[in-house]
Amino acid sequence: MQITHEFLGMITFILNDRLIQTEEPEGTALLDFIRYKAHLMGTKAGCREGDCGACTVLEGHLEKGKMRYKSIVSCLTPLGNVQGKHIVTIEGLQKEKMSPVQQAMIDNAATQCGFCTPGFVMSLTAHSLAPEKTSPEKVIKAISGNICRCTGYHSIKHAALDIARVLAKKNMDDPLEWLIKEAFLPAYFRDIAGRLEKIKTKTISVENGKPVAGGTDLYVQQADEMAVAKLRFLNKDKSLRKIEISNGICKIGGAVTAAEIMRHEKLQQHFPKIKTYFRLISSEPIRNMGTVAGNIVNASPIADLTIFFLALNSRVQILTKEGTKKEVGLRRFYTGYKQFVLKPGETITAIMFRLPEKAFFNFEKVSKRQHLDIASVNSAMLLELKNDVIETVHLSAGGVFAWPFYAEKTVDFLTGKKLSTETVFEAAGVLLSEIAPISDIRGSKEYKSLLLRQLFFAHFAAMFPHQFTPDILFSKLMAS
Ligand SMILES: Cc1cc2nc3c(=O)[nH]c(=O)nc-3n(C[C@H](O)[C@H](O)[C@H](O)COP(=O)(O)OP(=O)(O)OC[C@H]3O[C@@H](n4cnc5c(N)ncnc54)[C@H](O)[C@@H]3O)c2cc1C
Ligand code: FES
Ligand code: FES
Repeated sequence: MQITHEFLGMITFILNDRLIQTEEPEGTALLDFIRYKAHLMGTKAGCREGDCGACTVLEGHLEKGKMRYKSIVSCLTPLGNVQGKHIVTIEGLQKEKMSPVQQAMIDNAATQCGFCTPGFVMSLTAHSLAPEKTSPEKVIKAISGNICRCTGYHSIKHAALDIARVLAKKNMDDPLEWLIKEAFLPAYFRDIAGRLEKIKTKTISVENGKPVAGGTDLYVQQADEMAVAKLRFLNKDKSLRKIEISNGICKIGGAVTAAEIMRHEKLQQHFPKIKTYFRLISSEPIRNMGTVAGNIVNASPIADLTIFFLALNSRVQILTKEGTKKEVGLRRFYTGYKQFVLKPGETITAIMFRLPEKAFFNFEKVSKRQHLDIASVNSAMLLELKNDVIETVHLSAGGVFAWPFYAEKTVDFLTGKKLSTETVFEAAGVLLSEIAPISDIRGSKEYKSLLLRQLFFAHFAAMFPHQFTPDILFSKLMAS
């Protein structure tokens, strides 16, 4: 597979109802284009790090002839990533009268200084466009990436619940028409699919440019450099955007996002709690943008997706500069803090793993805040039993080593052992002997060791709730 690149020098997309053709640098943050080139000041610049959601906009693209919309943060989005897409800002909603989302915010006094309000409205509008039935929980989760410093959230929550009640009546056969009829969206949305089809969506990548996928790490760490850099846009390569399952092997393209993984129906069958696990990762708009390869190359010792896929003993497929393919086990990918075997110019094209059929799997994450926070310690475990004997086991842990850690010694210890409380407690000792946490802002090294031991026990409590009850684990802990 050869990735092709072409530089056109002109980025074309639809902003609200306007066709935009611009020669602005492809690394310009979409937020800056919206505010300072298109002069649409409703989208606010808050943290510029993806945390506050004040800059949230809708991104729409064509999928099998139909428009699909999602919320993204415009501060971390390179202009090049919106080539051929529909971007909607607060100005792109109703002009003559308020949309039901805006009205609900007013009716519930859910806006005070108003700085955060456009972001909340766009996140709730993105939720109204989701191709699934709403629920009070889902509508609250849709605003997980928005922060308000004035209201104390209760009024916003009431507004969101009002919207959920209206959306419960959404006609799922023709949601777009229903949303236009109910004034959630203006009528021009009807023509967007046809207008996008006419845009020649060629890549605007530069062959030797810096690889960028979702931009959620790069634009936090190097925003100024990104604005002027020549970039290689990986999201434009369809071969990197697929999830394929064949003969029990799942292959996830490098540019597949966290949101696409958690919503994949087949993956939900193999990991029934995948949505619960992934909701602990960042926020709705960041999950809509951040990719699996970006998470691996970020090489953060607490990278959640990497920890998840390490416990599946995944392999990483790499495309070399010369166009040949090679593979490496994810557990052999890292060689030091932020060091890895991937060479400059190489691309992660996919990760691959055997889908668990009869295996037990669990993912745990502890952070200071439950949502939109990075882990203090995280861990995942896969375990396969035969006649109560551990046949296969993989265990990963984040925040306890210089890179995402695969607990090789603990895995060796557990393999072939009978599953019992004694085995689990002895294995916990092995685990603590092979980690090397450091004290930092997320906790002391002693706290992180203790936390990992608890998460290790939590895996067994989650996988075998009858055998490893809190009482049994606690009394064994007291006796040890
Ligand atoms: C507000 C916020 C909250 C976050 N919360 C979490 C969290 O809870 N848990 C967590 O794990 N992470 C979190 N992150 C980090 C980030 O979202 C993830 O690491 C994400 O997966 C990065 O993917 P990306 O596509 O955006 O990477 P990018 O920023 O596009 O790229 C990151 C790096 O990967 C390289 N790269 C990307 N794709 C490839 C490829 N296919 N081949 C080779 N190199 C490649 C890029 O060159 C760059 O060096 C958060 C980030 C933000 C801004
Ligand atoms: S400005 Fe805060 S998320 Fe973009
Ligand atoms: S109303 Fe002021 S930040 Fe939300």
